[in-house]
Amino acid sequence: MAAKRSVTTASLKGRRVLVRVDFNVPLNPSGTIADDRRIVEALPTLRYLETAGARTILMSHLGRPDGKRDMRFSLRPIVHRLSGYLGLPVPLADDAVGIHAIEASARLKNGEFLMLENLRFHAGEEANDPAFVAQLAQLGEVFVEEAFGTVHRAHASTVGVAKRLPAYAGFLVQHEVEELSRLVDAPERPYVALMGGAKVADKLPLLKSFLGRADALLIGGALAFPFLTANGAHLGATPVEPGLESEVAEFSRIASEKGTKVELPEDLIIEVPGEKLGACVPANAVPEGAIARDIGPRTRDRFFTHLQGSKTVFWNGPLGLAEDLRFAAGTREVLAGLSTLPGFHVCAGGDSARVAQELDVVQAFQYVSTGGGAALEFVQGVELPGLALIPDAARP
Ligand code: 3PG
Repeated sequence: MAAKRSVTTASLKGRRVLVRVDFNVPLNPSGTIADDRRIVEALPTLRYLETAGARTILMSHLGRPDGKRDMRFSLRPIVHRLSGYLGLPVPLADDAVGIHAIEASARLKNGEFLMLENLRFHAGEEANDPAFVAQLAQLGEVFVEEAFGTVHRAHASTVGVAKRLPAYAGFLVQHEVEELSRLVDAPERPYVALMGGAKVADKLPLLKSFLGRADALLIGGALAFPFLTANGAHLGATPVEPGLESEVAEFSRIASEKGTKVELPEDLIIEVPGEKLGACVPANAVPEGAIARDIGPRTRDRFFTHLQGSKTVFWNGPLGLAEDLRFAAGTREVLAGLSTLPGFHVCAGGDSARVAQELDVVQAFQYVSTGGGAALEFVQGVELPGLALIPDAARP
């Protein structure tokens, strides 16, 4: 994808700049921030705006409060963390729109910040309601898209405002576009996609997008189970997502037509209720009552062999039930192996970055995206509404 028009080309001094950030960070059950990477990654743009003398109004969603004012999703803990990083007070307007937001944004001085309360307290945000868009747009004179994680949503604060104000990309968005484009526009070959996790129906479009584009697709985790059963494997008591038979058959047909090698597990680590853990069985013969939980050592070796020959690797989703450390070894070993290899390795989507961190294998990646669904759609080559509205950078 072409580079987007950069915030560095905007006239900012003394202007009210409305910045969409994605501070939808994971929270602990107590409401504290579990991982603040999305805040940290937005800091270069925010510091740039401060230095440029912009009057910055930040807007974000947090969680899915469904259009209702639910204070469990307040951005209060976020502004607290952000103020600490910026070394400045960042006041929180108690509503994203309305008289308080208007007055607080009008009071801003050059280099100051204001954060609006959770956009999704209003149903108009997700509905991209024109009246809500107008209320947001009147707060700023310039729009900066810095919420890469939300560019796949056609919401008021992403596409609505971008249509009304001159729109620019922040540094995080520019960086994500640049790095993820290396997977979409002529990736260095061999290109290997390593996919795991669950929710097969959700991930089938992404898996399909690799056919003909990647040289090999290595499938682990619960994602592999419908493919294994389609090949006649018995998976014992393993839960297998139902209703996917025809899609899986179609997938295999396209894979052989397009010449993408699809690798499935050949052995699995099983859990048998009441028995000692760690038994490894062939992937086509999980005993009655046993549940497949991780890929076995032969599969790990075979996946590693594919990775060894690769120049580009995309990873999304654990290869076993990695949240249970008894079944994390498959993911850990394959990614630890990847960290020893040269090439361009990208981790993106959902919880993958957190899993890599927990298993201490983040060093396997040259690039870790802040995007969940947005990154996965980008990698598929889907046009993302929040990016489509930012003009391309002028050619030198
Ligand atoms: C994400 O975490 O993927 C983004 O913040 C978008 O959140 P959403 O899936 O609730 O729209």
